[in-house]
Order: sequence, then C-alpha cells, then structure tokens
Amino acid sequence: MTGSNGSTAVSDQPVLPKPEGLEGVVAASTALSHVLGEQGKLVYRGYDIHELAGKASFEEVAYLLWNGVLPTHTELDGLLRSLGEQRSLPDHVIDVIRSLPVSARPMDALRTGASALGAIDAEGFDDLPDLDEAIALTAKFPGILAAFFRHRQGLEPVRPKVEHNTAQSYLYQLFGQEPEERHWRPLEVYLTLLADHGMNASTFTARVIASTGSDLCSSITGAIGALKGPLHGGAPSKVLDMLEAIGTAENVDAWLTDALNRGDRLMGFGHRVYKAEDPRAEILRGMAREAATPEFFELSRRTEERALAMLHERKPDRRLYTNVEFYSAAVLSAVGLPGDMFTPTFATSRVAGWTAHVLEQMANNRLIRPQSEFIGPMDKTFVAIESR
Ligand code: ACO
Repeated sequence: MTGSNGSTAVSDQPVLPKPEGLEGVVAASTALSHVLGEQGKLVYRGYDIHELAGKASFEEVAYLLWNGVLPTHTELDGLLRSLGEQRSLPDHVIDVIRSLPVSARPMDALRTGASALGAIDAEGFDDLPDLDEAIALTAKFPGILAAFFRHRQGLEPVRPKVEHNTAQSYLYQLFGQEPEERHWRPLEVYLTLLADHGMNASTFTARVIASTGSDLCSSITGAIGALKGPLHGGAPSKVLDMLEAIGTAENVDAWLTDALNRGDRLMGFGHRVYKAEDPRAEILRGMAREAATPEFFELSRRTEERALAMLHERKPDRRLYTNVEFYSAAVLSAVGLPGDMFTPTFATSRVAGWTAHVLEQMANNRLIRPQSEFIGPMDKTFVAIESR
C-alpha cells in the first residue's frame, strides 16, 4: 500500500490523512475557549476577549474558565481568599528552588518548582486533579518564579500577603515592594488575555498527560515544557532581543532584511490558526502605547509595520500577522520584568487555562493515544555483533 507521501505503508491499520503538525485535526472537545482564526476572534466561555479585557480581573477570568460562569461578588471574594491562602510555598519547594544554579533559566525553575510541588505536597496534590488543586497551583506559580528570581540575586523569598490579587502578589514577591497601580494593572490585563487559547501545544500536552490518569502537577509540568519553545510561548524575550538589536528606527529595514535573507523567522509574527490579526495583539498594542516609553513604542511600531510589509512581499500567499508575543515584550518590560521572565509570566496566566482543560478532560476522559505512520524498514534478520 502506498501512502500519500509515497512511502510504503506496512501497518495493518488503514492509511489516514496525516496533516503536518496536526494542522486542522480536532484533538478534543472543549467549552473553554475558541479561536476563530479567519475572523481574528478569541472567545472564553462565550465572551469575546474584547468584552473581558480591561473589565474582568484575572481572578474573574480564572473563575469563568474553571466554572463556566462569571462569579458573583461573594464567589469572587471566596476565590481571592483561597488564592491568597494558598500562595505560600512549602519550605521544601523553596529549598529545591534554592538548590538550582543561579544561571538556570526561569522557565526551567518554574518547571522544576511545579514538579517539586507534586512530589513534596503529596497531600495537597494527590492523583486525582480537582478544582482545589487547580486554585492551589495557580496561586503558587508567582511564588515559585519570584523565589527563583530573588535566589539568583542572592535575596531571600518574600512572604506573600493574603490581601493581594495575583498581579499584585507576583510583583510584590518579585521586588519586595508594594506594587504601583501603573504596573500591576497592565500586568493584570496581560494575565486575562493569555489565560486560555484553544488547543495550543501546551494545552494539548496537559490534556494528553491528564488522559493517562496522571496527576495535576505532572500535566502542568509537561505543559510548561511545551510552552517554553520559541515556536510557542518562548518568543517574547526574543522579540525584546530583536528590538534591542535593531536599536533605532533607521536600522529597522537593514536588520529585518538581513534576518529574512538568512532565513530567520521574525519573532512575534505568524500563527498556526489566525489568518487575521490576533485580537490580543491589538489590545496589547494599545496597552504598550500607554505603558512603554514613547521611544520603545515607536521602535516597536516601526518594526511591526516594516516586518509585516516585508513578510507580505516575500510570502504573498501566506497571510502573516502580528501575534500576541510582539507587544507582550513592550508591556512586560514596562511593568519592570526582564526578558527571561516573559515566558514564565505567560505561564502564570496560562496555568488557569491548563488546569481548566485538565478538569474538562477528566470529566469525560478517554486515553489520548493517536497512531503513527510507520515509515521504517521491516522484516530484517538479526546479525550477531561479531558479524556486523
Ligand atoms: N517569520 C518569517 N517567516 C515566517 C514566520 C515568521 N515569523 N512565520 C511563518 N513564516 C513562514 C515560514 O517560514 C513558512 O515559509 P515556507 O512555506 O516558505 O517554509 C510559512 O511562513 C509558513 O510557516 P509555518 O511554519 O508552516 O507556519 P506554522 O503554522 O507551522 O507556524 C508559527 C506558526 C510557529 C507561530 C510561525 O509563524 C513562527 O515561527 N513564528 C515566529 C515565532 C513566534 O512568534 N511564536 C509565537 C507564536 S504565538 C504563541 O504561541 C503564543
């Protein structure tokens, strides 16, 4: 039997379509979020992201993802209290973070911390994922990152305050000072924008692990690993590197031309699903205009315009637009975060979506176990090592 790529199929299974990178394959049903790529629309539980951005707090969005409805005042207060009470890390987890080299990358520290929680807090995180665990993990992400951020500067962790919301607590634990509203507000909007995004690679990873009956910390540890890659969540620090390397508006064209001639991908552009502008990019552009310095915003804007024009010239058949990562760089820098904390900050938001997806998967679970197309040889005869 000859497969679509000309290879000989030697499986006893029927030959099925095999889109590269699973493009267009429906891997699960979800009521959590939906990306309408042609329209440039993102929906959380029925709400267009424009309905929520700047109006709903991160905790309201997390509640919505976990429970399917927006919370009442009482329900929101209850969630804020639970998150506040759950923020502190077990001492052993702090010890694990302190044992990491200061040269470790924050995403690796976050992955290690999430994994350590599963091993150390076995009572809090048993084998059956539930909403309390989802809240606890979401509450602890800022502390894991902040503990590592301070460890690499030789500083002690800061004890979180129960009364802080997630954005405030993250900045407070990082910098050890009461956060200013001009910093935590944009961070909070950023967190609401990134909380979920359909069947992206890290969410798929979390659901695959959950489908085996594994525990929540394992699912989320795997998802962190998937998010780290530059083709997924690892792009925003590279956007910052690009903008810093470009340096001035006069240098934009020459720098982008060189990069494209080398065959490099321009970070912050393109998306598997969006065939129109990512709505989060549009909102973040507006936030960057307010939060970043005018010089940095102008450099970002000029780079975006020229990159889009050049990508269009070179790939007229492929519609490439600005993605969420491009203006994330300007917003997160303005909030005071260094580039290598951008992707972990993304994870601090996305953990709400990942955990909601794990709970959804568990509510109607069947092991996710696809097929592979075998393209290797068959029927070889063993040759003893002396004769090879
Ligand atoms: N710069 C230059 N060329 C690009 C870019 C880019 N940013 N994005 C896509 N292309 C080109 C590819 O080289 C390819 O050209 P070819 O057909 O001549 O080989 C064509 O457009 C199609 O690209 P694919 O890789 O097939 O698109 P895919 O859907 O697999 O990839 C992705 C999407 C990974 C996001 C891609 O656009 C990319 O690498 N962008 C840069 C990294 C980035 O910004 N990542 C963050 C994504 S957002 C998120 O995950 C949160």
